[in-house]
Amino acid sequence: SRYRSTTSGLRSTASSAVRLPSMRIDVLNGVNLNLLGKRDPATYGEESLQDLETQVYAWARELDLQVRCRQTNHEGEYVGFIHHALGAADGLVLNPGAWTHYAWSIRDALEPFGRPFVEVHLSDIDNREEWRRFSVLADLGGARVVGKGFTGYRDALRLLAEQAE
Ligand code: DQA
Repeated sequence: SRYRSTTSGLRSTASSAVRLPSMRIDVLNGVNLNLLGKRDPATYGEESLQDLETQVYAWARELDLQVRCRQTNHEGEYVGFIHHALGAADGLVLNPGAWTHYAWSIRDALEPFGRPFVEVHLSDIDNREEWRRFSVLADLGGARVVGKGFTGYRDALRLLAEQAE
């Protein structure tokens, strides 16, 4: 695929057991996701952000992905994470929290990314309050996983891994 083939170096070896570099994926959690486990457990579960990230790293190993997880409560910092990913990641998993519904800066930062991304929401935002149904990312054509709790992140990583094959 174009993601793997753009990374040079290992292809030229004579060995038949060439391992191409794995895809680099940034997993970006936004505002209030540090409160997982403390915040509305009926909606978001009992487990913490650290529990989530531990699972994400385990799924990444299974899928042979190089994953880095980040979280912030500052919109500008989240935009900065996306800017960093422009040159450094082959794919993104984004859960911007409530920013999803109004933060155009995040949509505009992601627009030039040009590589696959998946929007993830733990809860089923299409079947909650009306204001959660709208996403600023909707027109950018990424995949979307909602309402599956932590396993939504696994599904997102799988979707990205499949695009690399
Ligand atoms: C969320 C859904 C958003 O509406 C909410 O503001 C969040 C979390 C989710 O993962 O379900 O903070 O993105």
